[in-house]
Amino acid sequence: MFWFNQRFPFQSFLSKYFTQYYLPSNLNAWYVFGFLALATLLIQIISGLWLAMFYIPTVEQAFSSLEWFTREVHFGWLFRYVHSTGASAFFIIIYCHTVRSLWYGSYKKPRELVWLSGMLLYLLLLMEAFMGYVLPWGQMSYWGAQIVTSLFDSIPFIGADLTTWIRGDNTVSGVTLSRFFALHCIGIPLILIFFSWFHITALHHVGSNHPGGSDVPPGRLPFFPFYFSNDVLALVAFLFLFGIAVFFSPQFFLDANNFQPANPLSTPQEIKPLWYMAPFYTLLYAIPNKTLGILAVLITFFGFTALPWLDRHPVRVLRDRNRFAQFNLMILPVSFLSLMCLGIVTITPIKQKLAQVSAGLYLIALCTLPLTTRYG
Ligand code: HEM
Repeated sequence: MFWFNQRFPFQSFLSKYFTQYYLPSNLNAWYVFGFLALATLLIQIISGLWLAMFYIPTVEQAFSSLEWFTREVHFGWLFRYVHSTGASAFFIIIYCHTVRSLWYGSYKKPRELVWLSGMLLYLLLLMEAFMGYVLPWGQMSYWGAQIVTSLFDSIPFIGADLTTWIRGDNTVSGVTLSRFFALHCIGIPLILIFFSWFHITALHHVGSNHPGGSDVPPGRLPFFPFYFSNDVLALVAFLFLFGIAVFFSPQFFLDANNFQPANPLSTPQEIKPLWYMAPFYTLLYAIPNKTLGILAVLITFFGFTALPWLDRHPVRVLRDRNRFAQFNLMILPVSFLSLMCLGIVTITPIKQKLAQVSAGLYLIALCTLPLTTRYG
């Protein structure tokens, strides 16, 4: 080890990130989700690597190569279900991680860059998951890709050309499939890894926030062994729950329609999005005008990204603010959740009205935030 350390800064890496990295002493269980997100990223990369070894990215063989992998390759079913369930687990973790940051005001000065890189990671994850869902080339893959890529059509002037450029063809085809495969396997994962490093480096530079919310924490503890052991315990609990989902209900998060090969001549009766993309889909169907719907999606996403500047309340932790300020900020995750629930059920006129109310509440809460947090 001494020989190795003389030639490579391994010891200083361990001290910098583990034994000599000090965190506030009052962090609670909500702080395990960042570590779990990193662990899930690793699980997705390893299981995806195995899938990529057997997957054939052509219209003729994409579906059958995955069916063959699931049935014939040793433990192929396990890798496939770990990867598909892992995608949902990743989003559950990310949503918990974001709500924690919201509740403790971790997005506020001086952690704006941590928040911005987090939102970028979320956007990249949405893209990664969407492209991954297209790869099995089932009915939902094909029709989902058709709907999502056609959204770009409503951009004035450049919409039609942009849609063709993204698809690589006039319609979703084998060209689209192979470019989505390349982006899903290499392009986006590389950017995800880079920004995960950026996110953590930016956080280490300013230090973690804590449930007390003040700039000076009550005390400090090194990451290793104190928080590291907490994180490992959380990982064991997570793997236990994850195992239950993978072994007992691997298709819970999937759509039965996607176990039928893509057929461009037969539109499924109902096209439902994956649960983690459902809020954006609901916004699109709640607002009858396509361009306005896309605008609402953009405001929802970028408005939330701008939270460090929209929220002008001097108090960081939500618990310590008055009821009105708490209510105003908590409308955001609550209406987002309501949009999500409405997106995964069958659309009816009453649900469309409810979706409009949720979307309206979200947008009003977001737009009035600078005022209400200033005088709250
Ligand atoms: C690939 C996705 C992500 C990974 C791997 C990741 C990883 C981490 C890690 C390891 C930490 C430190 C431990 C902790 O506080 O939990 C952290 C903190 C943080 N993350 Fe993320 N994160 C991701 C996505 C996000 C997203 C989507 C957001 C929200 C927009 C976000 C916002 C934050 C904030 C504000 C902190 C600082 C928390 C504090 O100091 O109180 N992250 N992240």
